[in-house]
Amino acid sequence: MSDDAFDLIVIGSGPGGYVAAIRAAQLGMKTAVVEKYPTLGGTCLNVGCIPSKALLDSSEHFAFARHGIAAHGVRATVELDLPTMLARKDRVVQELTRGVEGLFRKNKVTRLTGTGRIAAPGVVQVTGADGATEAHRAARILIATGSKPARLPGIAYDDRRIVHSTHALALPAVPETMIVIGAGAIGLELGSVWARLGAKVAVLEFQDRAVPGMDRKSGALLQRALEKQGLAFRFGASARGARVEGDRVRVTVVEKDAEREETCDVLLVAVGRRPYTDGLGARELGLATDAKGRIEVDASFATSVPGIFAIGDVIAGPMLAHKAEEEGIAAVERMAGMAGHVAYACIPNVVYTWPELASVGLSEEDAAAKGIVVAIGTFPFLANGRAKAMGERDGQVKIIADAATDRVLGAHIVGPRASDLIAELATAMELGASAEDIARSVHAHPTLPEAVKEAALAVGKRAIHI
Ligand code: FAD
Ligand code: NAI
Repeated sequence: MSDDAFDLIVIGSGPGGYVAAIRAAQLGMKTAVVEKYPTLGGTCLNVGCIPSKALLDSSEHFAFARHGIAAHGVRATVELDLPTMLARKDRVVQELTRGVEGLFRKNKVTRLTGTGRIAAPGVVQVTGADGATEAHRAARILIATGSKPARLPGIAYDDRRIVHSTHALALPAVPETMIVIGAGAIGLELGSVWARLGAKVAVLEFQDRAVPGMDRKSGALLQRALEKQGLAFRFGASARGARVEGDRVRVTVVEKDAEREETCDVLLVAVGRRPYTDGLGARELGLATDAKGRIEVDASFATSVPGIFAIGDVIAGPMLAHKAEEEGIAAVERMAGMAGHVAYACIPNVVYTWPELASVGLSEEDAAAKGIVVAIGTFPFLANGRAKAMGERDGQVKIIADAATDRVLGAHIVGPRASDLIAELATAMELGASAEDIARSVHAHPTLPEAVKEAALAVGKRAIHI
């Protein structure tokens, strides 16, 4: 047992864990983070949010240079240099993961490298890559062990041709054909990357629409925009099996009750992620989990075992980096006797395709299911001056307000930089704003956010520019 006793040991250095550790240190707790991988930052920085966005940005430039730039009066001969694109992505990841190391040093957070197992409440055993084990004591333990890609029965990853997101971030060559299973965030983002770089991409989704959890009409707008870019969608479709044969993957596709064999160069399975607790000792400790294997917590993120807390992808809720971060902050603030909380109704959710889909709060279907009478305002980017100057025509802003009180209940944006535009609406919702509040706020001209103001005006049927 190490002589050092900590106020808090965090297991996992993803956005949930590392942000919680920094906040705990700010609040005066002697804090350590256990991470089994050589770099900090978890799924998000290493194999998730950051590398996927680096590739999305690079492939957007490539697609724009190929298909969009000529309309601006710029002639260019465009050639793909995939090794440089992948190396740039790796550098972005490296700089950010090193940035977290720097933040740990600045905040005096101790880094413990190895796999953490909770031997007993208050004791974390850390096993390094060489097998050496050391036990550390802590008044409290925070589990932030995140998630891993889900598997489909009958389909084994070979990490080259049958892949999940991690390998799809580093394919050594552009496949001629790619089948993606799952039209969720990963399927659409990574499907877009490889389609832009030249792959023929088919997306199989067993539900009847893309991004099934999000506002139906907004999802349909995004689907149409992606179809124009060459992605093919097949709904009511899935895969029952797949095997590698030479350089090809033979996939058993099930579509509307019929089964047939298809081939592709790469099969990307993107059917969700599962909470990750392997090796943590959760079962031995008797930590309560739900039917999906997620650790159960109360409003203070306390698990069923006193002194042990959990946040992020390993507990219920959307698997999003900013959700994990907010929970990390709220959890340690509550440990410190403060009133940390997470505004779950106001968590934005973004699919970073082009156009992007960004969403916060209730969808039209959610509101109908709850029996809430709503007033809806929409405004197309086609009528926004800045979007026109940029050459962007697809998408719209949609604001859903309570018909009786005008309070904003949800917003859904398909369009350029929707990821940035949604922030105004998430803040408005957190502050309990009405559509009228947004409509009466001055927005700079000419900007994309003017489409948000116009959609808010449209809730009261008084949009100006349409
Ligand atoms: P994680 O980030 O999964 O981190 C958990 C860490 O714990 C890992 O480093 C792991 O090694 C470590 N660990 C696990 N067990 C142990 C143990 N026993 N001992 C020591 N260490 C351990 N979300 C967004 O909000 N925006 C995006 O754009 C986005 N893009 C994504 C793109 C992809 C391709 C993927 C896969 C995910 C994306 N996500 C995105 C989701 C996001 O990455 C996760 O929601 C987020 O990382 C969850 O954070 P976390 O801290 O809960 O866990
Ligand atoms: P997801 O849950 O977003 O989408 C999975 C899709 O696969 C769903 O549409 C589902 O209906 C479909 N599906 C499930 N089983 C299927 C089957 N057998 N056959 C056909 N379709 C099937 O999961 P995804 O895309 O794998 O992402 C995992 C997590 O990572 C998500 O929870 C997401 O929040 C997070 N993430 C977030 C991103 C972002 O914020 N931009 C980007 C990438 C991932």
